[in-house]
Amino acid sequence: MSHSADPRPMTSRRGGPLKGEAQVPGDKSISHRALILGAMAVGETRITGLLEGQDVLDTARAMAAFGAEVERLGPGEWSVHGVGVGGFREPESAIDCGNSGTGVRLIMGAMATTPITATFVGDASLSRRPMARVTEPLSQFGAQITAREGGRLPITIRGAQDPVPLHYRTPVASAQIKSAILLAGLNAPGQTVVIEAEPTRDHSERMLSGFGAEIGTRTTEEGHVITLTGRPELTAQAVAVPRDPSSAAFPVAAALIVPGSDIRVPGVSRNPTRDGLYVTLLEMGADIVFENVREEGGEPVADLVVRHSALKGVTVPSGRAASMIDEFPILSVIASFAEGVTVMNGVAELRVKESDRIDAMARGLEANGVRVEETRDSMTVHGMSRVPGGGCAVTHLDHRIAMSFLVLGLATDNPVGIDDGGPIATSFPDFLPLMAGLGAELG
Ligand code: S3P
Repeated sequence: MSHSADPRPMTSRRGGPLKGEAQVPGDKSISHRALILGAMAVGETRITGLLEGQDVLDTARAMAAFGAEVERLGPGEWSVHGVGVGGFREPESAIDCGNSGTGVRLIMGAMATTPITATFVGDASLSRRPMARVTEPLSQFGAQITAREGGRLPITIRGAQDPVPLHYRTPVASAQIKSAILLAGLNAPGQTVVIEAEPTRDHSERMLSGFGAEIGTRTTEEGHVITLTGRPELTAQAVAVPRDPSSAAFPVAAALIVPGSDIRVPGVSRNPTRDGLYVTLLEMGADIVFENVREEGGEPVADLVVRHSALKGVTVPSGRAASMIDEFPILSVIASFAEGVTVMNGVAELRVKESDRIDAMARGLEANGVRVEETRDSMTVHGMSRVPGGGCAVTHLDHRIAMSFLVLGLATDNPVGIDDGGPIATSFPDFLPLMAGLGAELG
């Protein structure tokens, strides 16, 4: 929900080593998709381990507005009685997706090929983000779409009466664009094809297949080609959501930079399309051990054991950016404590996330004594043996910027402040108690 709560300034400071177990929440991407596909399936989908962050709760409310029966049975345990592909009813009021780009883009896709009308709104951050990347392909299915200047929210979509399938090459590596098209393609006859230059997170493909859709992926000289056959009957499933590697990144980072730390983070997804941060950290010399590697709910997972490490700066190749797109803010914090320079290439997409994350990280790190250089699509962080801290970072309604700077302050000489920790609740509602449980001094 678009919140207008007062800003919540927060501070973190250096203390003793971090120890113990960090049970991070369910994966945000998978949680959104479980609710949406549950709503588009026939029968009852049971979800366990759902992330109960505001972004996902907004998607749950939206699915109810489109006619699904959505019920919380217990902590992380939800039931969705779906209406079937093409069965969405017209919502009575505007769909408020709050802060969530994933929520709004996927839901717009899911309804764009059903002949109903819906209006989408969001908070100040979401209302600044580009939506034409999704509305443009959705209009090619036959949907009629009106947006504010610059293709921004609020957006009204009249879903296509007679949708035609789409053959579409995504202009930027984005799982949200790909997923919006695949969800729209569910109610178009024939085959919808999405081609991406770089593979992006593949949760939609895995879950669509699990729900019974005919979907295939192949790599050709054109790129990564995904083909979906429209008008399947999706069958309700049991979905066990693994823990979110993007949320795990915050306690992992804290353990790496706070001397003497030794923590365990169980049950984290190791999906290779989400694994770029962990690949990078190992290259930097991080002491991370992946124990008990197994499959849960169609996704590879492992228990992570992480110890404080002496790290070296590295160059992250642009081809890896999609597999760690949400982790660059926290990587730039870790890089501040590494020996030498860390260069992050091919990261222009960071400029259109919940905030301009290159700008937000560069300004906040500089305020805390770290040297940063930026171009339109790269960021370079100069590591130092001691990071002064003592600054206050502006978080721009961005949960990952807020958590990144709170982690920074756990290892700096002076405390680090943030102007607003409220948005942390969008993806990691228990961040503060979880970190405090490891021994971190923050709040
Ligand atoms: C997501 C895809 C990514 C990511 C976002 C979640 C998803 O966005 O930044 O947090 O669940 O599909 P893009 O695909 O637009 O890069």
